[in-house]
Amino acid sequence: MLPIAIHSVSKAFVSPTGERRSVLEDISLDVAPGEFVCIVGPSGSGKSTLLNLVAGLDAASSGSIAVGGKVVTRPGPERTFMFQEATLFPWLTVLENVRFPLELLGVPKAEIAERAVDMLRLVHLSRFQTARPHELSGGMRQRVALARALVVRPEVLLMDEPFAALDAQTRESMHIEVQRLWMEFKPTVLFVTHNVREAVELGDRVAIFETLPGKLKDVFTVDLPRPRDPNDRDVNILAGRINRALKDEIEKVMALERDPDKSGSGLPPRRAGGHI
Ligand SMILES: Nc1ncnc2c1ncn2[C@@H]1O[C@H](COP(=O)(O)OP(=O)(O)O)[C@@H](O)[C@H]1O
Ligand SMILES: [Mg+2]
Repeated sequence: MLPIAIHSVSKAFVSPTGERRSVLEDISLDVAPGEFVCIVGPSGSGKSTLLNLVAGLDAASSGSIAVGGKVVTRPGPERTFMFQEATLFPWLTVLENVRFPLELLGVPKAEIAERAVDMLRLVHLSRFQTARPHELSGGMRQRVALARALVVRPEVLLMDEPFAALDAQTRESMHIEVQRLWMEFKPTVLFVTHNVREAVELGDRVAIFETLPGKLKDVFTVDLPRPRDPNDRDVNILAGRINRALKDEIEKVMALERDPDKSGSGLPPRRAGGHI
């Protein structure tokens, strides 16, 4: 598997009025081959922006990102992406959705059939091969998205709040799936979430972002055996410590929501309650 090397990465966006706004400042983070690193931080701290940079969907303003020693300049098949909403093709069946990336890669027909069916078995969706996405629950759609992301056997899996829209029970069953599949395939994972307990349950390490602008504030190591139980005492203790580290950041965002003029950052007002 491939390591991810993020070195002194900064990113600024220029608004239509020509204002330059710094979103990420001097981020350095090394992710080892096969390591699972979670990123938590307030909304607007640049988590998605960083993932997009690693995916090669956008370019850093300065600094560098390398995957397997190769500087990222564009998307590549060794990196796959999974978002909050399962971005399945509604007109394709479950099986066709999972076959699709293999067809793009030109994998031989017989192998495509075998790998897609195997992958659906691994996410417990064998019985739904011929269903279309609209016939599935949100959790099932995310399992199809997970199957589609893993069927190409990616070296690097980039996940941007993939389970944020699921109810607590479905999310917990997805955590079990992800832990099982990650232990089997061992891709290098960057996983963004605003759920601290989720981060502690899944990650080898948890990186905390601060905001305005987005910076790496701290990195916690989760030295706990897997599979992990969200109700485990040690998971809770570490989640508590991380929450305390995040508290200042969340208060900063909430103060800004109360009084946006004070920030001087030129940020648009945020959605109420959208601070984590
Ligand atoms: N393409 C873009 N153009 C301009 N501003 C952007 C763009 N993408 C993100 N931003 C801004 O960058 C900041 C960080 O966004 P984002 O990375 O989505 O944060 P997070 O994922 O931590 O919530 C936000 O203020 C957002 O409005
Ligand atoms: Mg985001």
